[in-house]
Amino acid sequence: MKLIHKEILSQDKDAKIIKITVLSPEIAQKVKPGQFVVLMVAERGERIPLTVVERNLEEGTITLIFQEVGLTTRLLGQLNVGASLFALVGPLGHPTEIKKYGKIILIGGGVGIAEIYPVAQAFKEAGNYIETIIGSRTQALLILEKELRGVSDVLYVTTDDGSYGRKGFTTDVLEELLRKEKFDLVYAVGPIPMMKKVSFLTKEFGVKTIVSLNAIMLDGTGMCGCCRVEIGAKTQFSCVDGPEFDGHLVDWDGLAKRNSIYTEQEKHICKLLIK
Ligand code: FES
Repeated sequence: MKLIHKEILSQDKDAKIIKITVLSPEIAQKVKPGQFVVLMVAERGERIPLTVVERNLEEGTITLIFQEVGLTTRLLGQLNVGASLFALVGPLGHPTEIKKYGKIILIGGGVGIAEIYPVAQAFKEAGNYIETIIGSRTQALLILEKELRGVSDVLYVTTDDGSYGRKGFTTDVLEELLRKEKFDLVYAVGPIPMMKKVSFLTKEFGVKTIVSLNAIMLDGTGMCGCCRVEIGAKTQFSCVDGPEFDGHLVDWDGLAKRNSIYTEQEKHICKLLIK
């Protein structure tokens, strides 16, 4: 659980995306694309889920990428190489079903770009044709462009402010692609409004869509019910039933509401931490 590498991948005035490599031979041995770990930075801290972006079997390490958004990610960002996490459990969740679908569009928004990277590699290895759309608020926050270009047949980049790539949203490019040709699968990870819009568009065009949800989690093992989400008419737990679900069945408004439960407390605690 020791940090053996740390790198700031991108930084803007009020946001930072950090990559850490953690020693964990057991998790490295077992983890598959789409799976995540739950970690605790300190004994009295909260538990947060993070998708495993890479693994190195020889070195027994896993790589995690996160954006400093709340208290725990800020504390995690303060750990330096040589420090240890208090707790780390995984791999958790179902792996992505990797097979030959044909033509796939992968969409990553913000730090969600990190989560589509291992899946893109696996889909490519399975013989799929891949078009990838990545987007961030601004160029300074864009991550893994080179890596995703390497595994994609075509890569599109968007920024909200037009500072790099095309000005606009990932969903603008998605809509154009769907109007032009037929795709067999869309796989999306990013902010809830982005995944909601992706699912809305793909439903209109009748394209199967998988999303990986970032629900609030506590134990990560199906015991607490904290990560529940409505999928169709059923309540499911993101940690044990997901984290991937059919985007056309997700109750997006319910998920957004649950994920913002602690926003005010987070802001308050972060202010105290920064003082
Ligand atoms: S995190 Fe507790 S049930 Fe999923």
